[in-house]
Amino acid sequence: MKAPLRLGLAGLGTVGAEVARQIITEQDTLAAQAGRAISIVAVSARTKGKNRGVEIDAPWVDNPADIVMRPGIDAVVELMGGADGIALDVARATLTAGKPLITANKAMLAAHWGELFDMSARYHAPIMFEASVCGGIPIIKVLREGLAGNRITRIEGILNGTCNYILSTMDATGRDLDDVLKEAQAKGYAEADPTFDVDGWDAAHKLTILAKLAFDPRITTDAITVSGIRKITSDDLKKARAAGMTIRLVGRAEKGADGLKLSVAAVHLPLEHPLAAVGGAMNAVSIKADPVDICTLIGPGAGAGPTASAVLSDIIDIARKI
Ligand code: HSE
Repeated sequence: MKAPLRLGLAGLGTVGAEVARQIITEQDTLAAQAGRAISIVAVSARTKGKNRGVEIDAPWVDNPADIVMRPGIDAVVELMGGADGIALDVARATLTAGKPLITANKAMLAAHWGELFDMSARYHAPIMFEASVCGGIPIIKVLREGLAGNRITRIEGILNGTCNYILSTMDATGRDLDDVLKEAQAKGYAEADPTFDVDGWDAAHKLTILAKLAFDPRITTDAITVSGIRKITSDDLKKARAAGMTIRLVGRAEKGADGLKLSVAAVHLPLEHPLAAVGGAMNAVSIKADPVDICTLIGPGAGAGPTASAVLSDIIDIARKI
């Protein structure tokens, strides 16, 4: 068997702690899948000494951006979040050291794609980001690999688990948005700053990444018309239902005669529409492409388990390839 893959883990929030727990408790299964053991050999986060419900037997590094410099690190997993600041420092340090970067950070990728992928090419350091869009749905691998031979004309979907949880719960129970948002936060679905969820920016960052992969890597979040769900009331949902509809936050990128149109908005959907049936923190992405036609993927889009699942798939990819 090959030598273990030695990881530096930067970020021990909901997702980071779950990734660590999986690597520790499922080590035999992961080693069998990867063809080698996977071990965490250094950890770092914004705050030291919090109880994260997992015991990691690895040295603590005070500055997360220094983690890649620890002896023997093969790859860095960045799960700190935030478009700039320390997460970006970790990404730059990792790539310039020529090491693979595994990240769930959609805000950072949406904002710094060009710079980070230039570094990736210059230093021969792959960036893996399956966990950045739609949690447990393997949509990045589908676009990069499974549909690589297609010409994509439309992507639409439910890209934010928190908003979907809020809207579907408001619809089912008549409760208020703020009340249900607190529940989504407690379940680990929401961003550290939940305004990113409810105002549509988290979905916009994900749509930016999907559009870059599907249409043009130069597309930026500025090209998306963004509105969120803050103004939706349970009364709106009640009225929609009386008219045979529901409301969902939908991200959409579509190529037409007058170019590519990108939007994130709360829209009315007839109850028989496939996206109307997607409830809770589930996500769905529907891709229209030639020659495949329409492919729809549905799965859990937020939370510790689904996001950790995507991070682990990238870790195993790296373990197999380097
Ligand atoms: N806050 C995000 C969501 C987490 O609710 O979808 C997963 O990206």
